[in-house]
Amino acid sequence: MYDFHSMVERRRTTSEKWHLIEEDMGPGSEDVIAMSVADMEFKPAPEIVDALVRAAQNDVFGYDYATDDYLASVTGWMKRRHGWQVEPQTIRLSDGVMPAVNTALRAVTRPGDKVIIQEPVYYPFRFAAERNGLTIENNELVQDAQGRYIMDFDDLEAKASDPRCTAMLLCNPHNPVGRVWSEDELRRVGDICIRHGVVVLADEIHADFAYPGHEVTMFGTLGERYAEHCFEFTAPTKTFNLAGLACSNAVIVNPGLRRRFDIAADNIAGLTVSHFGLVACQAAYDRAGAWLDELLTVLAGNLAMLRAFVQRTDGLRLVEPEGTYLAWLDCRGLGFDTDEKLRDFMRERARVYFDEGVLFGRSGSGFERVNLACPPQLLQQVLDSMGKALAGRQG
Ligand SMILES: Cc1ncc(COP(=O)(O)O)c(C=O)c1O
Repeated sequence: MYDFHSMVERRRTTSEKWHLIEEDMGPGSEDVIAMSVADMEFKPAPEIVDALVRAAQNDVFGYDYATDDYLASVTGWMKRRHGWQVEPQTIRLSDGVMPAVNTALRAVTRPGDKVIIQEPVYYPFRFAAERNGLTIENNELVQDAQGRYIMDFDDLEAKASDPRCTAMLLCNPHNPVGRVWSEDELRRVGDICIRHGVVVLADEIHADFAYPGHEVTMFGTLGERYAEHCFEFTAPTKTFNLAGLACSNAVIVNPGLRRRFDIAADNIAGLTVSHFGLVACQAAYDRAGAWLDELLTVLAGNLAMLRAFVQRTDGLRLVEPEGTYLAWLDCRGLGFDTDEKLRDFMRERARVYFDEGVLFGRSGSGFERVNLACPPQLLQQVLDSMGKALAGRQG
């Protein structure tokens, strides 16, 4: 049994998530609860802490490289958890998924090219494209009759067929809408991109989070021709709450793409990874699987709490997540006529600080992204507070 119930006070620490509240709302915001940035309100697995303590006491902190043991830990995890046979020499380390995504974009595009994203989506995708001088082609996700997000493949084909379109940023599973893309959906994406020479940059940082009944398909497991046509970005940082230690592992099967990635990395003076990032990643993948399994049951419980709250609250609708620890809450039925009013209501009246849906693209207007990775009693506090604020508004 691990501890997912103790509250950890992160206000006035180095936590960006909690600092944002103070920065945005100023004095008097000390009671507002953070449900925004995608990290977790849990202490790390004791197996990871032990390894870090041992490293702090015994190691020398010079320049590091990825040892065979380290690479075996990464490939072992991918094999056990995802049935994915990764060859060690295809792995490239960096201090984060986004530095690696940016590097891959530079490797396969030229300023002026077009890149496909699927909004509403993790907003740094848009920033990465724009900052690399690329034009965004938004293959907007659409909701079916049940409110489930699906891809518009006709639009994807049309956008990919433009010769100026050279890359696609795929979020698998998808932040914020929570879709765990099916094998069939991924294959269709792959077929379209291969047909039109569009390289797939698959961000799989959330791949270890799937709710019961769902299974994440790593893009590279679809078959050789798909694996050869993509970059895959993985990390232990979401899974084990290690973002502050900065560590990620990209898998690049195609030697040509790998070479271009290496050159692009050299051109920005190399990608790096911290010693503690390496130590934590290895300990996590080798020894903390049971911690993750228990976490997944806590998250399923939190999701059930949120679902029950939404069901008894007029004006709210939950987009049922299949993966990630994020939930996409449709607040359009609450009747706020602007996103600012919805945001202010949540922050000032309900005393909760979400990531506003509209940040993820125009189609996120009227939504809030809820971070479920917290002790159940904190989520309960948020729901009670929202319930009271909403009742007060109606009364
Ligand atoms: C889809 C996605 N990609 C990348 C990141 C950030 O990864 P990193 O901190 O390794 O750059 C996040 C963090 O929330 C994310 O949700």
